[in-house]
Amino acid sequence: RTLTWNPIVVEKQGFKHFMLKEIYEQPGVVRVCLEAYTNSTWEAGQTTPPVNLDLDPSLYQDLQHIQILACGTSWHAALVGKYLLEQLAGIPTMVQYASEFRYAPAPLMANTLVIGVTQSGETADTLAALAMEQERRANLEPQFSPRLLGITNRPESSLGNLVDNIIDIHAGIEIGVAATKTFVAQVMAFYALALELAYRRHTLPESRIEEILVGLRQLPGQIELVLESQERYIEELAHEFGETQDFIFLGRGINFPIALEGALKLKEISYIHAEGYPAGEMKHGPIALLDAKVPVVAIAMAGSVYDKVLSNAQEAKARDARLIGVTPMDEKEAEETFDDLLPVPVVEELLSPILAVIPLQLLAYHIAARRGLDVDQPRNLAKSVTVE
Ligand code: G6P
Repeated sequence: RTLTWNPIVVEKQGFKHFMLKEIYEQPGVVRVCLEAYTNSTWEAGQTTPPVNLDLDPSLYQDLQHIQILACGTSWHAALVGKYLLEQLAGIPTMVQYASEFRYAPAPLMANTLVIGVTQSGETADTLAALAMEQERRANLEPQFSPRLLGITNRPESSLGNLVDNIIDIHAGIEIGVAATKTFVAQVMAFYALALELAYRRHTLPESRIEEILVGLRQLPGQIELVLESQERYIEELAHEFGETQDFIFLGRGINFPIALEGALKLKEISYIHAEGYPAGEMKHGPIALLDAKVPVVAIAMAGSVYDKVLSNAQEAKARDARLIGVTPMDEKEAEETFDDLLPVPVVEELLSPILAVIPLQLLAYHIAARRGLDVDQPRNLAKSVTVE
C-alpha cells in the first residue's frame, strides 16, 4: 500500500507556507496568552490579582532592576518589554544581546531580576549568558543572589532545566524559521509581567490596569481585521519590489523595536538589505542612503510620537523615497504623506506594537514568496542556533 497522505501538506492547512499559517495563528495565540495569564473577570477593586503568572514571589521582592538577555527576534520582543516594564512598572530595565553580554557583562546590581527570552529555549548564547549570571551571583550577599526567569515557547527545553521560573508563551510549535507568532506571544508575556509588577508595586491605578486589560482583549479581533483587510493589498504591493535591494524601516518609542523586527523579517526571508532605525536618528546617517530606489516603511501609530514620525517620513519623501506607512485607520494626514498605506485599527500607543508588526510580517512574506524563495527555510539560517 502506498501512503498518499502527506503530513506536511496537512499541517500547512492549505497555506502555501508555514510562515503564512503561523501569521494567521496570531489572533488565537493572543487569546490563549490572555486566558493563561489574566483573570478574565477581574475589575478594579477586586481582591484577587488581575494577572497570575505562577512565579515564585521571591522574584519580585525588593526588585530594583531588570536585566534581559536574548538574541534575534527575542531581543526585539525584549526591547518592547523594556518599554512596558519601565513605563508601567517603573523598573529600570536593561536589554542586551546574550552574545555580547557573555564577554562584557554589566557590573552586578543588587535586587535584579534576570530574564532570558528564547523561543526555542536552546539558543547557546542565551543559555550561556544566563548560566554565567547564575554563577557570578552564587555565594554573594542575599541581595545579589540570582533570580532567573525564562520566557519561552518550550518549557521542557534546556532553558527549563536551567531556570526555576518560566513564563510559557503558549504559541504552539513554530516551524517557519522566521519567528512570527512566537514574537507576538513573547510580547504578550511582557504585557502580563509588566501589569503583574505594576499591580504589586502600585505604580498604576487599578482603573488603568483594567483599561489596558480591556485593550489587550480587543487585540485578537483587531489582528483578524488587519489580516482580512490587508493581505490582498500587501500581496499586490509586493509586486512593486521585485528589483528593490534596500529598505529602511523607521519607528519610535515602543514601535522602534517593531521597525527592527520588520527589517529583520525582510532580511531573513527575502535577502533584501533592510535597516531598522529610530525615526529621529535618520538624519544622523541613513538619510544619506535615500533616493527613489530605497523604499521607507514608517510606523506612525497614534500617540506621543505620531507627528514626529510623520515629519521624519516627510523628510524621507523630500529625498524621493517611496513611503509606506503603517498608520491608524482613517487618518487623513497620513493619506497625504504616504504613497502606500497599511492601516491598522486605532488603539492606544502602548498596545500598538502587536498590530503594527502584522503588516510588516505580511510584507516580508509576500516579497519573499513573490521572489520564489524558500520562505520557511531561508538560506544560512536555523530555527534554533545551538552553537556559539
Ligand atoms: C535564530 C532564529 C531566529 C530567532 C533567534 C533566537 O536566529 O532564526 O528566528 O529569533 O535564533 O532564537 P530563540 O529561540 O532564542 O528565540
